[in-house]
Amino acid sequence: MKRQIAQMNWDDYRVLPEGEKAKYLTSDGRLYDVLFSQQFNRELLDHLFVLTNKIRLVSKTREGAEWLSTLLATKKALLYFIQPSTRTFLSFWSACSTLGMKVIDVRSPETSSEMKGESAEDNLRTISSYFDILITRHPERGYADKASFILGKTRRPIPTINAGSGKDQHPTQALLDIFSLRKSFDKLGGLEGKTIMMVGDLKRGRTVRSLCYLLTNFPGIRLIFSSPEAFKMENDIKDFLKRRHVSFLETEEFASMIPDADAIYMTRLQDEHDTGNESKTFDVSKFAFREEHLKALKPNGVLLHPLPRRGEIEERVDLDPRAMYWRQVRNGMWTRVALLAHIFGVDKKILEK
Ligand code: NCD
Repeated sequence: MKRQIAQMNWDDYRVLPEGEKAKYLTSDGRLYDVLFSQQFNRELLDHLFVLTNKIRLVSKTREGAEWLSTLLATKKALLYFIQPSTRTFLSFWSACSTLGMKVIDVRSPETSSEMKGESAEDNLRTISSYFDILITRHPERGYADKASFILGKTRRPIPTINAGSGKDQHPTQALLDIFSLRKSFDKLGGLEGKTIMMVGDLKRGRTVRSLCYLLTNFPGIRLIFSSPEAFKMENDIKDFLKRRHVSFLETEEFASMIPDADAIYMTRLQDEHDTGNESKTFDVSKFAFREEHLKALKPNGVLLHPLPRRGEIEERVDLDPRAMYWRQVRNGMWTRVALLAHIFGVDKKILEK
Protein backbone atom coordinates (compact mmCIF):
# COMPACT_ATOMS: atom_id res chain seq x y z
CA MET A 1 0.00 0.00 0.00
CA LYS A 2 2.87 2.35 0.83
CA ARG A 3 3.94 2.55 -2.79
CA GLN A 4 0.54 3.94 -3.75
CA ILE A 5 1.43 7.24 -2.12
CA ALA A 6 3.59 7.87 -5.19
CA GLN A 7 0.44 8.48 -7.24
CA MET A 8 -1.11 10.99 -4.84
CA ASN A 9 -0.59 14.68 -4.36
CA TRP A 10 0.04 16.24 -0.97
CA ASP A 11 -3.07 18.42 -0.87
CA ASP A 12 -5.34 15.41 -1.37
CA TYR A 13 -3.38 13.22 1.01
CA ARG A 14 -2.89 15.81 3.77
CA VAL A 15 -6.61 16.20 4.48
CA LEU A 16 -7.39 12.48 4.72
CA PRO A 17 -8.61 11.38 8.15
CA GLU A 18 -5.97 9.42 10.10
CA GLY A 19 -7.94 6.19 9.72
CA GLU A 20 -7.69 6.53 5.92
CA LYS A 21 -4.07 7.62 5.96
CA ALA A 22 -3.11 4.61 8.05
CA LYS A 23 -3.78 2.37 5.02
CA TYR A 24 -0.99 4.08 3.11
CA LEU A 25 1.51 3.62 5.89
CA THR A 26 1.78 -0.16 5.79
CA SER A 27 3.70 -2.52 3.57
CA ASP A 28 3.31 -6.31 3.31
CA GLY A 29 0.90 -6.36 6.25
CA ARG A 30 3.26 -4.55 8.62
CA LEU A 31 3.75 -0.95 9.70
CA TYR A 32 6.03 0.98 7.40
CA ASP A 33 5.79 4.49 8.84
CA VAL A 34 4.79 5.21 12.44
CA LEU A 35 3.21 8.65 12.55
CA PHE A 36 0.21 8.56 14.88
CA SER A 37 -1.43 6.29 17.44
CA GLN A 38 -4.52 5.56 15.37
CA GLN A 39 -2.33 3.19 13.30
CA PHE A 40 -2.32 0.63 16.12
CA ASN A 41 -5.12 -1.85 16.63
CA ARG A 42 -5.42 -4.37 19.42
CA GLU A 43 -3.91 -7.20 17.41
CA LEU A 44 -0.79 -5.18 16.65
CA LEU A 45 -0.51 -3.95 20.25
CA ASP A 46 -0.71 -7.54 21.48
CA HIS A 47 1.95 -8.59 18.99
CA LEU A 48 4.29 -5.79 20.08
CA PHE A 49 3.65 -6.55 23.74
CA VAL A 50 4.69 -10.19 23.31
CA LEU A 51 7.62 -9.17 21.13
CA THR A 52 8.87 -6.59 23.64
CA ASN A 53 8.80 -9.16 26.44
CA LYS A 54 10.63 -11.66 24.27
CA ILE A 55 13.33 -9.14 23.36
CA ARG A 56 13.92 -8.36 27.04
CA LEU A 57 14.29 -12.05 27.74
CA VAL A 58 16.60 -12.80 24.80
CA SER A 59 18.86 -9.87 25.65
CA LYS A 60 19.47 -11.15 29.16
CA THR A 61 22.14 -13.60 27.98
CA ARG A 62 25.33 -12.61 26.24
CA GLU A 63 24.59 -15.01 23.39
CA GLY A 64 21.08 -13.58 23.02
CA ALA A 65 22.26 -9.97 23.06
CA GLU A 66 24.95 -10.76 20.46
CA TRP A 67 22.41 -12.51 18.27
CA LEU A 68 20.01 -9.55 18.45
CA SER A 69 22.81 -7.23 17.37
CA THR A 70 23.24 -9.15 14.11
CA LEU A 71 19.62 -8.78 13.01
CA LEU A 72 19.77 -5.29 11.47
CA ALA A 73 23.53 -4.87 11.25
CA THR A 74 23.35 -3.71 7.64
CA LYS A 75 20.82 -0.94 8.37
CA LYS A 76 21.51 2.71 9.12
CA ALA A 77 19.22 5.09 10.99
CA LEU A 78 19.12 8.87 10.97
CA LEU A 79 17.93 10.52 14.17
CA TYR A 80 16.75 13.93 12.97
CA PHE A 81 15.85 15.65 16.25
CA ILE A 82 15.18 19.35 15.79
CA GLN A 83 13.64 19.78 19.26
CA PRO A 84 15.08 19.13 22.73
CA SER A 85 15.11 15.51 23.80
CA THR A 86 17.13 13.33 26.15
CA ARG A 87 15.12 10.20 26.75
CA THR A 88 13.49 9.63 23.39
CA PHE A 89 16.69 10.38 21.52
CA LEU A 90 18.88 8.09 23.64
CA SER A 91 16.19 5.46 23.82
CA PHE A 92 15.98 5.24 20.03
CA TRP A 93 19.76 5.30 19.76
CA SER A 94 20.04 2.47 22.23
CA ALA A 95 17.19 0.53 20.57
CA CYS A 96 18.90 0.80 17.16
CA SER A 97 22.18 -0.40 18.67
CA THR A 98 20.48 -3.37 20.29
CA LEU A 99 19.62 -4.59 16.79
CA GLY A 100 23.07 -3.71 15.44
CA MET A 101 21.97 -0.68 13.41
CA LYS A 102 24.37 2.21 12.82
CA VAL A 103 23.06 5.60 13.94
CA ILE A 104 23.84 9.15 12.88
CA ASP A 105 22.14 12.20 14.36
CA VAL A 106 21.31 15.72 13.27
CA ARG A 107 20.14 17.77 16.23
CA SER A 108 20.48 21.32 15.15
CA PRO A 109 18.83 22.91 12.12
CA GLU A 110 21.89 25.18 11.81
CA THR A 111 23.95 22.25 10.61
CA SER A 112 21.42 21.27 7.94
CA SER A 113 21.51 22.43 4.33
CA GLU A 114 17.96 23.71 4.76
CA MET A 115 19.80 26.74 6.18
CA LYS A 116 21.34 27.28 2.74
CA GLY A 117 17.85 27.45 1.31
CA GLU A 118 17.49 23.81 0.33
CA SER A 119 13.86 22.70 0.12
CA ALA A 120 12.52 20.15 2.60
CA GLU A 121 11.94 17.84 -0.38
CA ASP A 122 15.57 17.90 -1.52
CA ASN A 123 16.79 17.63 2.05
CA LEU A 124 14.73 14.49 2.63
CA ARG A 125 15.74 13.02 -0.69
CA THR A 126 19.34 13.34 0.39
CA ILE A 127 18.52 11.66 3.68
CA SER A 128 16.86 8.74 1.92
CA SER A 129 19.97 8.17 -0.17
CA TYR A 130 22.14 7.43 2.85
CA PHE A 131 19.83 5.87 5.42
CA ASP A 132 17.32 3.07 5.87
CA ILE A 133 15.01 4.82 8.31
CA LEU A 134 14.28 8.37 9.46
CA ILE A 135 13.41 8.86 13.12
CA THR A 136 12.40 12.45 13.72
CA ARG A 137 11.30 14.92 16.37
CA HIS A 138 10.20 18.29 15.18
CA PRO A 139 8.43 21.33 16.66
CA GLU A 140 6.07 21.46 13.67
CA ARG A 141 2.85 19.51 13.94
CA GLY A 142 2.80 17.80 10.53
CA TYR A 143 6.52 17.41 9.90
CA ALA A 144 6.74 13.61 10.19
CA ASP A 145 3.61 13.26 8.08
CA LYS A 146 5.02 15.43 5.32
CA ALA A 147 8.43 13.74 5.51
CA SER A 148 6.90 10.29 5.17
CA PHE A 149 4.86 11.50 2.20
CA ILE A 150 7.88 13.00 0.45
CA LEU A 151 10.05 9.96 1.16
CA GLY A 152 7.29 7.71 -0.14
CA LYS A 153 7.52 9.45 -3.49
CA THR A 154 11.26 9.03 -3.96
CA ARG A 155 12.70 6.10 -5.89
CA ARG A 156 14.26 4.90 -2.67
CA PRO A 157 11.54 5.25 -0.02
CA ILE A 158 12.50 4.69 3.62
CA PRO A 159 10.24 4.48 6.70
CA THR A 160 9.64 7.47 8.99
CA ILE A 161 9.03 7.27 12.73
CA ASN A 162 7.48 10.25 14.50
CA ALA A 163 9.35 10.73 17.78
CA GLY A 164 7.22 13.74 18.75
CA SER A 165 5.55 16.32 16.52
CA GLY A 166 4.58 19.67 18.01
CA LYS A 167 1.65 19.50 20.43
CA ASP A 168 0.06 16.79 18.39
CA GLN A 169 1.33 13.25 18.88
CA HIS A 170 4.07 11.09 20.33
CA PRO A 171 3.04 7.59 19.30
CA THR A 172 6.12 5.68 20.51
CA GLN A 173 5.78 7.23 23.97
CA ALA A 174 2.18 6.02 24.02
CA LEU A 175 3.35 2.54 23.02
CA LEU A 176 5.77 2.37 25.92
CA ASP A 177 3.13 3.76 28.27
CA ILE A 178 0.75 1.01 27.19
CA PHE A 179 3.49 -1.58 27.70
CA SER A 180 4.17 -0.22 31.20
CA LEU A 181 0.47 -0.19 32.09
CA ARG A 182 -0.07 -3.73 30.80
CA LYS A 183 2.93 -4.97 32.75
CA SER A 184 1.61 -3.32 35.91
CA PHE A 185 -1.82 -4.91 35.62
CA ASP A 186 -0.74 -8.24 34.13
CA LYS A 187 -1.63 -10.19 37.26
CA LEU A 188 -4.50 -7.91 38.22
CA GLY A 189 -6.95 -8.76 35.46
CA GLY A 190 -5.20 -6.76 32.73
CA LEU A 191 -5.56 -3.16 31.65
CA GLU A 192 -9.20 -3.72 30.67
CA GLY A 193 -11.67 -2.02 32.99
CA LYS A 194 -9.06 0.11 34.75
CA THR A 195 -9.40 3.81 35.60
CA ILE A 196 -6.60 6.00 34.31
CA MET A 197 -6.25 9.57 35.52
CA MET A 198 -4.27 12.00 33.34
CA VAL A 199 -3.06 15.11 35.10
CA GLY A 200 -1.60 18.47 34.08
CA ASP A 201 -1.42 20.37 30.82
CA LEU A 202 -3.71 18.08 28.84
CA LYS A 203 -4.36 20.70 26.18
CA ARG A 204 -0.79 20.83 24.91
CA GLY A 205 0.65 17.50 26.03
CA ARG A 206 1.21 15.21 23.06
CA THR A 207 1.87 12.15 25.21
CA VAL A 208 -1.59 12.13 26.77
CA ARG A 209 -3.20 12.70 23.38
CA SER A 210 -1.43 9.73 21.83
CA LEU A 211 -2.11 7.59 24.89
CA CYS A 212 -5.86 8.30 24.75
CA TYR A 213 -6.03 6.90 21.22
CA LEU A 214 -4.25 3.70 22.22
CA LEU A 215 -6.32 3.19 25.36
CA THR A 216 -9.48 2.91 23.28
CA ASN A 217 -8.22 -0.56 22.29
CA PHE A 218 -8.88 -1.82 25.83
CA PRO A 219 -12.54 -2.41 26.74
CA GLY A 220 -13.96 -0.90 29.88
CA ILE A 221 -11.27 1.77 30.35
CA ARG A 222 -12.43 4.84 32.26
CA LEU A 223 -10.54 8.10 32.01
CA ILE A 224 -10.29 11.00 34.42
CA PHE A 225 -8.85 14.24 33.01
CA SER A 226 -7.57 16.43 35.81
CA SER A 227 -6.45 19.91 34.75
CA PRO A 228 -7.27 23.58 35.14
CA GLU A 229 -10.14 24.70 32.92
CA ALA A 230 -7.81 26.54 30.51
CA PHE A 231 -5.65 23.42 29.98
CA LYS A 232 -8.40 20.87 29.33
CA MET A 233 -8.10 17.99 26.89
CA GLU A 234 -8.94 19.12 23.35
CA ASN A 235 -12.27 18.29 21.72
CA ASP A 236 -10.83 16.16 18.92
CA ILE A 237 -9.66 13.61 21.50
CA LYS A 238 -12.90 13.79 23.46
CA ASP A 239 -14.92 13.26 20.27
CA PHE A 240 -12.78 10.25 19.41
CA LEU A 241 -13.36 8.79 22.88
CA LYS A 242 -17.11 9.33 22.54
CA ARG A 243 -17.16 7.57 19.17
CA ARG A 244 -15.32 4.63 20.76
CA HIS A 245 -17.68 4.67 23.79
CA VAL A 246 -14.89 5.33 26.27
CA SER A 247 -16.21 7.12 29.34
CA PHE A 248 -14.27 10.09 30.68
CA LEU A 249 -14.70 12.64 33.40
CA GLU A 250 -13.21 16.15 33.41
CA THR A 251 -12.33 17.79 36.68
CA GLU A 252 -10.27 20.59 38.15
CA GLU A 253 -9.74 18.47 41.25
CA PHE A 254 -6.61 16.42 41.67
CA ALA A 255 -5.87 15.23 45.20
CA SER A 256 -9.47 14.20 45.96
CA MET A 257 -9.56 12.02 42.81
CA ILE A 258 -6.45 9.95 43.64
CA PRO A 259 -8.35 7.09 45.39
CA ASP A 260 -10.47 6.55 42.24
CA ALA A 261 -7.55 5.85 39.90
CA ASP A 262 -5.73 2.59 39.16
CA ALA A 263 -3.06 4.51 37.28
CA ILE A 264 -2.12 8.17 37.49
CA TYR A 265 -0.29 9.72 34.55
CA MET A 266 1.34 12.98 35.59
CA THR A 267 2.54 15.52 33.01
CA ARG A 268 4.39 18.82 33.10
CA LEU A 269 3.26 22.26 32.01
CA GLN A 270 4.12 22.58 28.30
CA ASP A 271 5.09 26.24 28.51
CA GLU A 272 7.24 26.11 25.37
CA HIS A 273 3.92 26.35 23.51
CA ASP A 274 2.86 29.60 25.20
CA THR A 275 1.79 32.35 22.86
CA GLY A 276 1.42 34.86 25.69
CA ASN A 277 1.60 34.41 29.45
CA GLU A 278 -0.99 31.63 29.72
CA SER A 279 1.25 29.28 31.74
CA LYS A 280 1.38 31.86 34.53
CA THR A 281 -2.25 31.06 35.31
CA PHE A 282 -1.47 27.36 35.91
CA ASP A 283 -1.15 26.56 39.62
CA VAL A 284 1.46 23.79 39.36
CA SER A 285 1.33 23.05 43.10
CA LYS A 286 -2.31 21.97 42.83
CA PHE A 287 -1.52 19.36 40.18
CA ALA A 288 1.52 17.82 41.85
CA PHE A 289 1.83 14.41 43.47
CA ARG A 290 3.44 14.72 46.89
CA GLU A 291 4.56 12.12 49.42
CA GLU A 292 1.43 12.78 51.50
CA HIS A 293 -0.69 11.62 48.52
CA LEU A 294 0.78 8.11 48.60
CA LYS A 295 -1.63 6.97 51.30
CA ALA A 296 -4.57 7.81 49.03
CA LEU A 297 -3.17 5.83 46.10
CA LYS A 298 -4.59 2.31 45.70
CA PRO A 299 -2.27 -0.44 47.02
CA ASN A 300 -1.99 -1.82 43.47
CA GLY A 301 -2.08 1.60 41.82
CA VAL A 302 0.73 2.94 39.66
CA LEU A 303 2.17 6.36 39.06
CA LEU A 304 3.51 7.24 35.63
CA HIS A 305 5.18 10.26 34.03
CA PRO A 306 6.67 10.55 30.52
CA LEU A 307 9.41 12.76 32.03
CA PRO A 308 11.06 15.23 32.22
CA ARG A 309 9.42 16.26 35.48
CA ARG A 310 9.65 19.66 37.02
CA GLY A 311 8.02 19.18 40.37
CA GLU A 312 4.82 17.37 39.38
CA ILE A 313 6.08 14.44 41.44
CA GLU A 314 8.03 15.01 44.61
CA GLU A 315 11.33 13.13 44.50
CA ARG A 316 10.60 11.33 47.76
CA VAL A 317 7.79 9.51 45.96
CA ASP A 318 10.39 7.71 43.77
CA LEU A 319 11.10 5.24 46.57
CA ASP A 320 7.56 3.89 46.61
CA PRO A 321 7.15 0.63 44.63
CA ARG A 322 4.12 2.11 42.86
CA ALA A 323 6.31 4.79 41.25
CA MET A 324 6.69 3.43 37.72
CA TYR A 325 8.35 6.27 35.84
CA TRP A 326 11.97 5.10 35.94
CA ARG A 327 10.94 1.61 34.84
CA GLN A 328 8.84 3.32 32.17
CA VAL A 329 12.06 4.86 30.77
CA ARG A 330 13.68 1.43 30.48
CA ASN A 331 10.51 -0.05 28.97
CA GLY A 332 10.70 2.65 26.32
CA MET A 333 13.93 1.28 25.00
CA TRP A 334 12.60 -2.29 24.73
CA THR A 335 9.38 -1.12 23.12
CA ARG A 336 11.35 0.77 20.48
CA VAL A 337 13.50 -2.28 19.76
CA ALA A 338 10.28 -4.23 19.16
CA LEU A 339 8.89 -1.54 16.89
CA LEU A 340 12.05 -1.41 14.77
CA ALA A 341 12.13 -5.21 14.58
CA HIS A 342 8.53 -5.17 13.37
CA ILE A 343 9.11 -2.45 10.75
CA PHE A 344 12.13 -4.29 9.32
CA GLY A 345 10.41 -7.69 9.48
CA VAL A 346 12.70 -9.52 11.90
CA ASP A 347 9.97 -9.89 14.53
CA LYS A 348 9.09 -13.45 13.49
CA LYS A 349 12.72 -14.53 13.83
CA ILE A 350 12.84 -13.11 17.35
CA LEU A 351 9.63 -14.78 18.42
CA GLU A 352 10.89 -18.13 17.09
CA LYS A 353 14.20 -17.84 18.96
C1 NCD B 1 7.58 14.14 26.42
C2 NCD B 1 7.52 14.90 25.11
O1 NCD B 1 8.56 15.18 24.51
O2 NCD B 1 6.41 15.17 24.69
N1 NCD B 1 8.89 13.72 26.75
C3 NCD B 1 9.29 12.49 26.32
O3 NCD B 1 9.44 12.24 25.15
N2 NCD B 1 9.45 11.55 27.26
C4 NCD B 1 6.95 14.85 27.55
C5 NCD B 1 7.34 16.26 27.87
O4 NCD B 1 8.29 16.80 27.30
O5 NCD B 1 6.67 16.83 28.74
